[in-house]
Amino acid sequence: MIILVGFMGAGKSTIGRLLAERLGMPFVDIDEFIKAQEHRSISQIFEEGGEEGFRQLERQAILENLVGDDAVIALGGGAVESPATREALDSAFVVYLEIDFDEAVLRVGDDSDRPVISNPNIRDIYLRRLPLYEGVADYAIPTAKRSPEEIVEAILSRIENLS
Ligand code: S3P
Repeated sequence: MIILVGFMGAGKSTIGRLLAERLGMPFVDIDEFIKAQEHRSISQIFEEGGEEGFRQLERQAILENLVGDDAVIALGGGAVESPATREALDSAFVVYLEIDFDEAVLRVGDDSDRPVISNPNIRDIYLRRLPLYEGVADYAIPTAKRSPEEIVEAILSRIENLS
């Protein structure tokens, strides 16, 4: 199982899709999985069940996918805040896509389906998560000034060196 973590805007979905294609594995984007299961947008889920409602669905979706067939899985930026999720990631190969705070905000803009980006404490949330991403990561790669293809190549050569 290959898991991609990192803050919003790090490129988890784009890179995950490319990486899965190169490895001939299925790709699962946890946010998309939740939306399809719930037939609701992320914003709707936040509005109707609060952030905790979303986090509960997120934890379940991740645990369910971790026990499925081998895949590349992109987690939402806040998933690592759950201790249960962090523990479940122990058995997977976790790639952390690093991104600076300013770059992340720039890339995400005011995406209406990313309710957390407009949180007034977003910088603190970013800082709080950094050690959590680092803690779960088996491999960390900075994404600034690198194309998705270059990042995928770097991840692939790291995976090849493991075997
Ligand atoms: C969130 C990130 C989003 C999504 C939800 C909450 C967060 O995923 O899970 O809006 O708390 O950082 P991306 O990191 O894919 O944008």
